Amino acid sequence: MPVIVIVGAQWGDEGKGKIVDVLTEKADIVARYQGGHNAGHTVVINNRKFVLHLIPSGILHKNTVCIIGNGVVVEPKALIKEIKDLRKRGIKVSDNLLISRSAHLIMPYHLALDSAGEKTKGKKCIGTTGRGIGPTYVDKMARIGIRVGDLLSPEAFQEKLTVNLRNVNFLMKNLYKAPCFNARKIFDEYMGYANILRKYIADTDKIVNSAIAEKKNLLLEGAQGTLLDIDHGTYPFVTSSNSIAGGACTGLGIGPTKITGVIGVVKAYTTRVGSGPFPTELHDEIGERMREKGGEFGATTGRPRRCGWLDTVVLKHSTAVNGFSGIVITKLDILDGLDIIKICTSYRYRGKTYTDMPKDLAILENCTPVYEEVGGWKESTEGITEFRKLPGRAQAYMRKIEKLIGVKIVIISTGQKRDESIMLQEQF
Ligand code: GDP
Ligand code: IMO
Ligand code: MG
Repeated sequence: MPVIVIVGAQWGDEGKGKIVDVLTEKADIVARYQGGHNAGHTVVINNRKFVLHLIPSGILHKNTVCIIGNGVVVEPKALIKEIKDLRKRGIKVSDNLLISRSAHLIMPYHLALDSAGEKTKGKKCIGTTGRGIGPTYVDKMARIGIRVGDLLSPEAFQEKLTVNLRNVNFLMKNLYKAPCFNARKIFDEYMGYANILRKYIADTDKIVNSAIAEKKNLLLEGAQGTLLDIDHGTYPFVTSSNSIAGGACTGLGIGPTKITGVIGVVKAYTTRVGSGPFPTELHDEIGERMREKGGEFGATTGRPRRCGWLDTVVLKHSTAVNGFSGIVITKLDILDGLDIIKICTSYRYRGKTYTDMPKDLAILENCTPVYEEVGGWKESTEGITEFRKLPGRAQAYMRKIEKLIGVKIVIISTGQKRDESIMLQEQF
């Protein structure tokens, strides 16, 4: 009966997809609760690579029900493409996928507003994925959003679209000097999507709560990471949803008392895509080595990821705002062969030491990280499945992380594939 949230503990791309896939073996339901197709979750099975954007990473297990919750923003064209691509590769996507009626739709003008907004910001741009995520959540909060359920009511859909386009086209014409949108064209396009998606649309909150009452195993899959959370991340260099564990309650309609565990996924070093502060970022050959060996290029946009050492100031903040009951360390194998490994334990800024994550961006942007060093190891850890077989220094690195952040490690991932994992504590 566990209901477990899987959350990124850093700036996204920690390896959530792989971990969700591994844990899905024993899960009845896997549900996404926020974000949209800005996410890119990679799962590798027998040398076949799958990148999931909107569909939960549990889809590769055919007996698991996958849910796109109300907190997610859905771009129907991208979703249909994802469904088709998976089917072409022999993956079952039919009655095992459900989409919340209350999830908001990403409209073509949201994409245009996203890129126009970024252009206006110039050098201060966020470096979004350009998927229209921010503007869609803006409309949701402004209570003018169009929801998945509206696809089933053409009249309501058309009315909302017409009203919204008045504002949007005013901005396009007068502020952004960009082409305007045609209501009829969007209506026809989206009604086409409605025909394809109709059969997946459901009241997913009821399904999730019934499953909890029936004591089923549920995995709630976070997208992005804690430091990209709209409230608890490095605002404004964040995404527009609550990626932290609390987001699972609102994004699916589950009461907090029903969540039984929160697992933070932690990469053995740190990466970030897009702009914003990153105290432990490396601009040297070690950072370059992490990027090359770790394949640190965005799964959604292909952009090179910024790389740096593990930061326990960040992880302590993540632990607090998510209430981690356990953590998973991924990509340990990428650190093989280093002479020393550094762990950031505090920041120095204008003569002061910060052991707690500062809220002030100026501090985060200009601080000097203070490191503890541990010895590296020469042996390969790739594919190791037992803790005792890890080199002594890799074991020491794991123990050090546990000690510094005060949370137990439940899984260590040593490669991209399903079985390349050290399972230290069963989740189901
Ligand atoms: P997500 O967005 O959190 O699901 O992470 P991404 O899929 O964007 O990026 C993580 C990348 O690391 C993917 O290419 C994974 O296949 C890969 N990966 C995950 N765990 C491991 C690991 O333990 N070792 C190695 N070498 N690669 C891993
Ligand atoms: P997964 O789920 C890493 C980043 C973008 C940008 C900021 C805002 O694969 O971990 P947005 O398009 O959301 O408005 O962009 O957030 N970002 C991610 N970075 N992993 C992700 O998802 C991300 N989704 C968004 O690069 O800095
Ligand atoms: Mg990713």
